[in-house]
Formats: sequence, structure tokens, C-alpha cells
Amino acid sequence: MDPGQLAVLRTPEGTAALAAARDALAAGRTVVALRARGVPPATAAAAFTQAELRARAVAKFGDDAHRMFFTRAGLQQATRAVVADRRAARLRAAGVCTIADLGCGIGADALAFARAGIRVYAVEADPATAAVAEANAQALGLTDLVSVHCGDATSAPLEDVDAVFCDPARRSPEGRRVFDPAAFSPPWEFVAGLPRRIPRTVLKLAPGIDHALVPPGAEAEWVSVDGEVVEATFWFGPLARAPRRASLLRAGAVAELTGTGERLAPVDRPRAFLYDPDGAVVRAHLVAEFAATVDGVLADPSIAYVYADAAAPTPYARCFQVDEVLAFSVKRLRAALRDRGVGRVEIRKRGSALDPATLRRALRLSGEGSATVVLTRVAGAPVALLCRPATAEGLGPTG
Ligand SMILES: C[S@@+](CC[C@H](N)C(=O)[O-])C[C@H]1O[C@@H](n2cnc3c(N)ncnc32)[C@H](O)[C@@H]1O
Repeated sequence: MDPGQLAVLRTPEGTAALAAARDALAAGRTVVALRARGVPPATAAAAFTQAELRARAVAKFGDDAHRMFFTRAGLQQATRAVVADRRAARLRAAGVCTIADLGCGIGADALAFARAGIRVYAVEADPATAAVAEANAQALGLTDLVSVHCGDATSAPLEDVDAVFCDPARRSPEGRRVFDPAAFSPPWEFVAGLPRRIPRTVLKLAPGIDHALVPPGAEAEWVSVDGEVVEATFWFGPLARAPRRASLLRAGAVAELTGTGERLAPVDRPRAFLYDPDGAVVRAHLVAEFAATVDGVLADPSIAYVYADAAAPTPYARCFQVDEVLAFSVKRLRAALRDRGVGRVEIRKRGSALDPATLRRALRLSGEGSATVVLTRVAGAPVALLCRPATAEGLGPTG
């Protein structure tokens, strides 16, 4: 969406076209429905695209999505409100009153800072995206606290802010994900140097970021939402409170685990219950800290499955009862599942190169029963664990 289209959508005619587009979309109609109502073709197309993006954005922004504006790339890269609000609340609680958001995109983080009462100086290099961020601040009634500037973050003045946030673009112009920090925009060299200028710096990064890039003294946090790891956040200076943190957001609740990221869990034979830790725990290198909470062990030092004698309620992992441990062979696994009348399997794996779809086909199962098959290694040897979810009330996020 270019700034001209955005301007049209913000006129009374554009607002009416957006409402009509939302209705048409809900009724399963196409853009033709808008044109039939006399909406000019260009406005109809822009309104319909915007309605589609808003519908998709509800997952990240709830009902606010229907008042906000999006570019396709901006929505893709935007932080979901539940994560941005939590970050903003932590900054506000740490006494932050003014913040620079360097590369603000469509403004998801900037809006959250403002909702928390923080004044935001938002900078965005792309003029169309900057215009969208500005429109969003206006749409949500936050212009008193958010000012958006179109320009290069690397030359933004930072004298008057007490904190800095940067969520560098990690996609190529074609929309492909970029993993090498050297290809980030603003450039990694600039981003990594921010804490030297403004000690209270926060960086949002991809969950796959290398631990080697966490500077000594910084906190690296991995955040998951409903089991999906959505980002890593580096907290610097007085904002850092623990070397590593896993924050699990699920159904309005937050569970946090902290530690050094360097502890090793005890290694022993598999036990009666297997815990599959949330991705945020694994990415944060806090498996040993988690294992200690359930008196658990690993069965292989390099694999993040935790085994324990008891099923304990935990927000940090899914818990399964282990019915049998088989040295892996397709034939042996097929026979064991047939003996149990298992026709449906959920296949989970860590430390196995097997393709679950190929294995499922090779098993040729039939029967009424179901089971969870865990492909992994015990002391280096490939095994298949026949499991079932530990279903007692309160056991893990999904029981
Ligand atoms: C990952 S997005 C930010 C998303 C934002 N945090 C949100 O949740 O909506 C990064 C943004 O930085 C912008 N950007 C990249 N390089 C920049 C630079 N040198 N100066 C200012 N903005 C830049 C990109 O255009 C993109 O919109």
C-alpha cells in the first residue's frame, strides 16, 4: 500500500469502503461486490486488500486490527500485541519514560510502549510503512505519545531518550528470511553498538539467534506464545535481570524460567514419564533448570527430552507416560503398535533424522487405538518410545 492509497482509505469514502470490504469478506464475496456498490476500482482494490490484512491481523492484535492499517510485509514482521505489551510493561516498570523505536515498521511495538504510558520516538526508513505507523497511532488514539519520523535509524538523535528498542528487519526485499546478522537492517554493527550509547537497550531478534551473540552481562529471553517460539529479546544494562530467561505465554498466563544457560542436566536411563519442554525453554538453554523442577534426567546429554519418575503439573513442558522403550527398527515398532491395536500415531522426535510422514506410511497401521511415538536416542542409540499423553488434570499445558 503506498501513502496515496492509505490517504484515500482514511477519508470518509475510504472508511465506508473499508466497512463494505469487511462485510463483503465476511460474506465470502469478492472485490466485485464493492465495485457493484459504486466504489471506484482503485479504492475498492485497496479497501479489499486492507480488509484481508485486517482479518489476518486479528490473530496478532485482536479487535484493534479492524481500526489499524497494514502493509503485507509490515504485518508479517509485526510483534503480536500480547508480546509487545508485556515488553512495554517491563520497560515501564523499570522506569522508562521515553524510548526510541529504531525501525518501527507498522508500529506494533511503538503502540504497545505508548499504551504502557511511554513516550515513543519512532523511526522508519520506508515512507509507506512510516505513514502506516502514523495512521495506526492516530487510529488507536495514541498520537500524544507516539511521533513517527521517516528516516534512517542510524542517524537518529538519541540524546533525549532514556531507552532504545530495535527490531531489525530480518527479511530480504523479496520477503525471504535472513539469518545472517550481517544482513540485518539497520545493520548489526549499528544495532550491537546501541547499548554502548544507551545502556537501557532492548533488541528483538529471531528465535534462532546464536547464543554467541549475547554479550556478557546482557539478558537473553526467548518468548513463546501457545507453544510457538516467536522471538528472542536481548535486554541490556540495568534492564538485564538474569543471563537467560524463557517466557511462555499461554491463555493469558505467563510462566517464566531463568538460569545461566550453562547448567548441565544429570544423564541416566529413561524413566516412566517423558517431558517435552516448550521451545522457549530449549532455545534459552534452560533444559537443566527445567529438569530440576521435575527431578528429571536426560537419557542423552545432547537431547532435550527430560525423564522423571512422576508426572508433575508444569507449564514448561508436555508430559507423556512412557509405556515401552524399543530399540528402533520399523519392523519392531510396527509389531508393537499392531499388538496394541494402534491405528493412529502422533510422531514426535528429537535427535532422529527419520521423516515422520515416511515412517507413518511404512508402519501401515490399522486399528482403533492411538499412541504417541517418540523417536529419539538413549545414550546415543536410536529408540522409539511408545507413549500416551499424561492426562491427569493440570499436567502440563496440554496434559
Ligand atoms: C522487523 S520490522 C519492525 C517491526 C515492528 N517492531 C513491529 O512490531 O511492527 C523492521 C523495520 O525496520 C525498518 N528499517 C530497516 N532498516 C532501517 C533503517 N536503517 N532505518 C530505519 N528503519 C529501518 C524496515 O523498513 C522495517 O519496517
